[in-house]
Amino acid sequence: MAARPVALLPALAVAALLLLSSAPASVTAAGRYPPLAPGLSFEFYKKSCPKAEGIVREYLASAVKSNVGLAAALIRLHFHDCFVQGCDASILLDSTPGQPSEQKSIPNQTLRPAAFKAVNEIRDRLEKACGGRVVSCADIVALAARDSVALGGGPAYKVPLGRRDGLAPAPDAVILGALPPPSSTVPTLLSFLDKIKLDATDLVALSGGHTVGVAHCGSFEDRLFPTQDATLNQWFAGQLKNTCPAKGAVNTTSNDIRTPNTFDNKYYVDLLNREGLFTSDQDLLTNTTTRPLVQRFALDQAAFFDQFVYSYVKMGQIHVLTTGSSKGQVRANCSARNPGDHLLPWSVVETAAETLVL
Ligand code: HEM
Repeated sequence: MAARPVALLPALAVAALLLLSSAPASVTAAGRYPPLAPGLSFEFYKKSCPKAEGIVREYLASAVKSNVGLAAALIRLHFHDCFVQGCDASILLDSTPGQPSEQKSIPNQTLRPAAFKAVNEIRDRLEKACGGRVVSCADIVALAARDSVALGGGPAYKVPLGRRDGLAPAPDAVILGALPPPSSTVPTLLSFLDKIKLDATDLVALSGGHTVGVAHCGSFEDRLFPTQDATLNQWFAGQLKNTCPAKGAVNTTSNDIRTPNTFDNKYYVDLLNREGLFTSDQDLLTNTTTRPLVQRFALDQAAFFDQFVYSYVKMGQIHVLTTGSSKGQVRANCSARNPGDHLLPWSVVETAAETLVL
């Protein structure tokens, strides 16, 4: 879809807005962080695998160069992991008899296979470099998401580490009760976020993840057919109809029409111009509680980056399993629970596994 000059806002306001919103991306890891969850720390692998973070970064720098969409896929994967039963990498588990993978659930069907492959490849490299099964898959997902944000031009930040991997996928009903559909308006979105102690500020900042990546027609076609959503900018609706000419089309379009592969604040500029892709995006401007923050982030990229880091790190700590809680495990394969664990209670298995491996 071709970009075009902004036509709806008065020319002066737009010029000021674009000037102000082009502040350079932060390259330091300084910033504001939420309180750390018990058991997590920024130094978790400092002794057990000091090279871990460098290995993840090096892998992604090269992988994202050959597939820019991988960054968006990993940023979304962390969200779909954390919102459902906490950041425990349960999203990575393949189906087993009687336990379908979370990947089969409707909201997860558009997660990209490349993201799952990348996480497993990173895990294999880490096992070699750390001399064993040290870094959890849940931490790899959090680190990969962090590096993807920075590689896209977004803020660099520190990730609290020490998550352990869950033992089973969440059932479909739990997934559907945790991931809001894109047709949601703000009150619905807030009711989902409230369950995991995220608020309206977190909602506006985290939705800024839609500054990168793509969406399939099926995720927004209800705004085009049978009748066009009145909040859609007319020109933008026409562009979307070129990509999705009728209900049921299988094409994709960029989430952020202005800078589709750059992690910046242009997503909020899109919203000001009624060029948000989903109802869940555009309603952030319509709703009077969230609108002031949309306007602020559109004008001030540094304010968006600051709040995104805070909210994404907060999201990254939802219901984590930690050594202190003696729950979960460190998987040997991110797609499967460690063999034999079903024979014994997890606590016994983990103690034995750690004695052997660490
Ligand atoms: C607030 C509720 C949210 C809803 C309703 C929502 C919904 C969606 C939908 C429907 C898609 C497109 C799927 C497709 O058709 O292929 C998508 C893509 C995406 N979402 Fe969200 N999302 C939400 C929050 C988030 C958050 C919190 C993040 C991360 C901070 C995020 C990051 C992404 C990214 C990066 C993509 C593009 C993925 C790719 O290109 O593979 N989303 N989202």
